[in-house]
Amino acid sequence: MLRILSQRADIWGEIRLVASPRSAGRKLAVRGEEVEVLALSEEAFDGVDIALFDVPDEIAERWAPVAAARGAVVVDNSGAFRMDPDVPLVVPEVNPHAVHSRPRGIVANPNCTTLSMIVALGALHAAYGLRELVVSSYQAVSGAGRAGVETLRQQMSLVAGTDLGTNPGDVRRAVGENTGPFPEPVALNVVPWAGSLREDGWSSEEMKVRDESRKILGLPKLPVAVTCVRVPVVTTHSLTVHARFQDEVTVDGAREIIATAPGVVLFDNPEAGEFPTPADVVGTDPTWVGRVRRALDDPTALELFVCGDNLRKGAALNATQIAELIAAERR
Ligand SMILES: NC(=O)c1ccc[n+]([C@@H]2O[C@H](COP(=O)([O-])OP(=O)(O)OC[C@H]3O[C@@H](n4cnc5c(N)ncnc54)[C@H](OP(=O)(O)O)[C@@H]3O)[C@@H](O)[C@H]2O)c1
Repeated sequence: MLRILSQRADIWGEIRLVASPRSAGRKLAVRGEEVEVLALSEEAFDGVDIALFDVPDEIAERWAPVAAARGAVVVDNSGAFRMDPDVPLVVPEVNPHAVHSRPRGIVANPNCTTLSMIVALGALHAAYGLRELVVSSYQAVSGAGRAGVETLRQQMSLVAGTDLGTNPGDVRRAVGENTGPFPEPVALNVVPWAGSLREDGWSSEEMKVRDESRKILGLPKLPVAVTCVRVPVVTTHSLTVHARFQDEVTVDGAREIIATAPGVVLFDNPEAGEFPTPADVVGTDPTWVGRVRRALDDPTALELFVCGDNLRKGAALNATQIAELIAAERR
């Protein structure tokens, strides 16, 4: 977040840093200056126009209304308010106007998996009218925070240089019982699970992708089937998307839409071995789209492979773009 604030146009006056009492007094660099961290308190929000919240759900739930009552507009990166009907869920390239109607003084930032595909889908929806989505994710470990990244690094050092992966259970024995925030080893593996258990075997992450996609696109009944999978990638989520539309689609038409949509890059030349992968996409801002094909058995459907940096567009960048939209209201 601080890096992104430092890299984008400097429209801010003062930037105040607030965290728990554990961090109070630490100095962090923002816009080339060292800024001292303040402990969270009601007074910390006095005089603040926009408060970017990047804290656990329960802290956001308690403190976002406090910041709003003190006059700040809150942009919240947690899951606490995303499905609140009085809180807009905003992706500036897709539904920028929603930001202006915020009865609680809070605007929510979508989850990283939805954000990693929704800019491209929003552009295709505007042209063709989305009717159904079938999605599988290949999610990076940083989506589970610092602990996720540490877990993968540790496990990789334990399996490096071995011929593990040929017998049942040998990867698990090598990495031990502690699998960090994941239910299974993530090194040399893929884990079909992200989040917590919801009804009928769905994961919380899968429900977020369905519910948040519907809200952002303004399609409350959109059929969405989604399977979320964790893969041994540090940062950048990938997704395969089967999108069915109201009208017939053409590959050339879809490629044109993707190539010209703001915030989206078309990278699609399999003959030359060109398609997006996390190794190339990490650290960049746009949503990258490749493998654009018309569905084999349905002229109204497209198949896509999409990659997006889950920490930039998937979290901090989108939150910053929302803050910039709010700041622009004053100009
Ligand atoms: N949109 C997305 O794509 C996406 C992706 C992943 C996560 N998230 C969400 O982003 C949020 C932050 O995740 P994270 O992993 O960065 O969380 P985190 O490391 O647990 O905490 C982030 C910040 O919250 C502060 N904090 C924690 N407890 C606090 C307290 N009692 N009082 C005041 N400040 C407190 C921490 O302060 P200290 O530094 O002092 O500890 C830290 O600055 C979560 O809500 C998570 O669900 C969003």
